[in-house]
Amino acid sequence: MTEPILSVRDLSIMYTTGRKTGVTAAADVSFDLYPGQSMALVGESGCGKTTLGLGLLRLLPRLGKVSSGEIVYRFKDGMSLDILRLGKEDLRKFRWHEAAMVFQGAMNSFNPVLRIGEHFTDTLRSHEGGERRLTRADIAERAAELLRMVRLEPARVLRSFPHELSGGMKQRILIALALALEPQVLVLDEPTTALDILTQRSIVEQLHELRERLGFAMVFITHDLGLAAELADRVATMYAGRIIETGTAEDVFYEPRHPYTVGLIKAVPPVVGDLPELSSIPGSPPSLADLPSGCSFHPRCGYVRDECTGTRPELTVLTERALDEGHAAACLRAGEIEYTRKVVASA
Ligand SMILES: Nc1ncnc2c1ncn2[C@@H]1O[C@H](COP(=O)(O)OP(=O)(O)O)[C@@H](O)[C@H]1O
Ligand SMILES: [Mg+2]
Repeated sequence: MTEPILSVRDLSIMYTTGRKTGVTAAADVSFDLYPGQSMALVGESGCGKTTLGLGLLRLLPRLGKVSSGEIVYRFKDGMSLDILRLGKEDLRKFRWHEAAMVFQGAMNSFNPVLRIGEHFTDTLRSHEGGERRLTRADIAERAAELLRMVRLEPARVLRSFPHELSGGMKQRILIALALALEPQVLVLDEPTTALDILTQRSIVEQLHELRERLGFAMVFITHDLGLAAELADRVATMYAGRIIETGTAEDVFYEPRHPYTVGLIKAVPPVVGDLPELSSIPGSPPSLADLPSGCSFHPRCGYVRDECTGTRPELTVLTERALDEGHAAACLRAGEIEYTRKVVASA
């Protein structure tokens, strides 16, 4: 079996909030991402998805720090990089060349006075390797190739200013820029949020196609379960900074074993079948500065028992499978949770 391209072990990330205090926004996160695999990180807003995504590429804001854990990136030839130990220059190379990120809300962060062509020039120039300097023609050619890859018309787009383009076009451009140096891991943070449904669809199709063609692995951050179901091989549900359930998309969406995942699923209408009673999870996620004792989800949980308030359950394997397909949940009652999405067959 091939080795994971990215292995994360017991990763914790803290934000300093006061002179001596901090909050742990990602706690003891572990997972393996295999080459070409796509993993969705799902969960309500504030549960630590963006923090984890940024942490993977060491792109945390100044007040954020990895407080413990390990991130290992493996090249095809078996060589590996300890991401948390990389110096500035190696880190710069790692980003873009090996792993790239499309940031949450980045659509609105293009430099408004620069044409799209100049954004490509900046990106390609700042990463050109050693001796050979890219000529203007090289850059124009590569930019056009990248734009065609995301189905945009280079001649028009390259000379446009950001404000002349739609949100969907800007998001495609960001994906093209992220792929400029052929990374093997792409992290996308809410790449379709704020886009209309048709544009969302076309971006999703685009990502499917690109991944098939270029073979990169993907970490896809979203609060939209429908999108996760469509794009992900694996799903990890996060709550209060922890991964509380993980498995194949099929396992997690059709046989969720954590009451929180069940709650998320019940809150979205199904595409087919009868409309079941939709219900949102009562309450809201806890403040990270003041987590409930035991299982952080217990105050909102319909399955809560006394012991849930005392012990925090570990992520425990429920179904042993191939290494990249196991199903695990962090719930004392995981074995009793039986929720199967009822898809009503047509008569
Ligand atoms: N720049 C920051 N400074 C301090 N705390 C932050 C910062 N960004 C995020 N946090 C904390 O981390 C938590 C998780 O945030 P985030 O990773 O953005 O979650 P998500 O992407 O799931 O919405 C937030 O609720 C907040 O407490
Ligand atoms: Mg976020």
